Amino acid sequence: MYFLLFCMDSVADNDNFSYLCAQNAIIKDIMSDRLFIFDTTLRDGEQVPGCQLNTVEKIQVARQLEALGVDVIEAGFPVSSPGDFNSVVEISKAVTWPTICALTRAVEKDIDAAAEALQYAKHKRIHTGIGTSESHIRYKFNSNPEEIIERAVAAVKYAKRYVEDVEFYAEDAGRTDNEYLARVIDAVTKAGATVCNIPDTTGFRTPYEYGEKIKYLYEHVDAFAAGTSILSTHCHNDLGMATANTVAGVLNGARQVEVTINGIGERAGNTSLEEVAMIFRTHPDLGIETNINTHKIYPTSRMVSSLMNMPVQPNKAIVGRNAFAHSSGIHQDGVLKNASTYEIMDPKEVGIEEASIVLTARSGRAALRHRLHINGVDVDGDKLDALYKEFLLLADKKKEVTDDDILILAGAERSASQNVKLDYLQVTAGKGTRSVASIGLIIGNEKFEAAASGNGPVDASLKALKTIIRRDMTLKDFTIQAISKGSDDMAKVHQSVEFDKHIYYGFGANTDIVTAAVEAYIDAINKFKS
Ligand code: KIV
Ligand code: ZN
Repeated sequence: MYFLLFCMDSVADNDNFSYLCAQNAIIKDIMSDRLFIFDTTLRDGEQVPGCQLNTVEKIQVARQLEALGVDVIEAGFPVSSPGDFNSVVEISKAVTWPTICALTRAVEKDIDAAAEALQYAKHKRIHTGIGTSESHIRYKFNSNPEEIIERAVAAVKYAKRYVEDVEFYAEDAGRTDNEYLARVIDAVTKAGATVCNIPDTTGFRTPYEYGEKIKYLYEHVDAFAAGTSILSTHCHNDLGMATANTVAGVLNGARQVEVTINGIGERAGNTSLEEVAMIFRTHPDLGIETNINTHKIYPTSRMVSSLMNMPVQPNKAIVGRNAFAHSSGIHQDGVLKNASTYEIMDPKEVGIEEASIVLTARSGRAALRHRLHINGVDVDGDKLDALYKEFLLLADKKKEVTDDDILILAGAERSASQNVKLDYLQVTAGKGTRSVASIGLIIGNEKFEAAASGNGPVDASLKALKTIIRRDMTLKDFTIQAISKGSDDMAKVHQSVEFDKHIYYGFGANTDIVTAAVEAYIDAINKFKS
């Protein structure tokens, strides 16, 4: 920011100021500037249906984000539920140096709740805002543009009564007319907004258009050149352009980016933190610096994926299983001669080498504890003993136990308190026979048993399960994550189950693929609201 101020002062006298503000000049003038990383994994990211975390899990992620070096953690939307409120309180206590941010609508009771939830935060920010696009103004608020400006200003002023650091978001800014948007943003910066968030809420804009929008705001709102406020990007990935839009925003003057680990978020997700961090790391010529400790990227990605039971697509940039896997002979040959032939970054730089070390049945408690710690899970005492027992059982079944496996074990330990549990499952399968399954469930403290036949082992098992749990539920989606490390590997199954017009997501992991499928179904059942 200081550097930005300095640069803008130096060009302010120039007659041809508009020329200097042209894209390239802006890039040049703000070279070496610091980019603030605002992580919203625990707020926008966590809005993915079925991927909600409990408070203990959120604290675990928040601590990992702190170690990763993010500047701001958006911890939740306190007025939305007591659980969200409590998570913001507990994360505020657990984390030291990043700013903790809480979301609100432009509504006084939301802002009161956010301020209360943030009371223990060492550095706190209230993030308030309102929809500014024509459709939001007309259909969502049944209002008019002038009234929206008044409400926006009132919300910022109200939040300022509680905290110095107030961020304003113009929801659907992507589809808001630039001239009107500049009026809104000018008004809220005059009311004291320290950060102005320009969300492309629907993921509609192209990188050129989004970059131009940021540039327009930079040029038409005095607070940015004056250094009293900064612009923030917040891009959604509906058309696969979130990262490109974010980078375009930064190259045109934004100095904060709102991102999530693995790019998670509703629909097609948000901009992914790891992609933005590594783009600026691999392009030092752009002069943009972040505080991210890139070596923590991969462990953080694994932790979020495992706690949320959300697989990372194998070809996902930076953190996907195949991101550094060279399969073609020509590439393998080149990389062996010199990695720079086909690798633009060292996998070690994003923490991949350390994460790939495996444990075996001969590994002790300390080794298990250490690997869990590297992956952001700290366990001791009885919990470690219980986990170690599970680990030995697994290590007996498969030669090498990976980080993924131990994170799954740690997750299973967390869900041990679920109401419906699988007691046993026996099933026949094979060519030319009809599958028969017998299943035992524990519901609360009671045991139930049933048997059924089906046209395959999964079908038979789920039919047997449904004779015990008589709900009108339908399996909608069934994904088996590829077994990557040999036939003794853990199968990971993700399912969505429809019940009472809602979709519930379930996850199961087991060396037995049918058991994994049934566990995933039971996991979804445990989330049913009624
Ligand atoms: O996408 C969006 O518009 C948001 C705002 C609430 C910040 O997430
Ligand atoms: Zn969003």
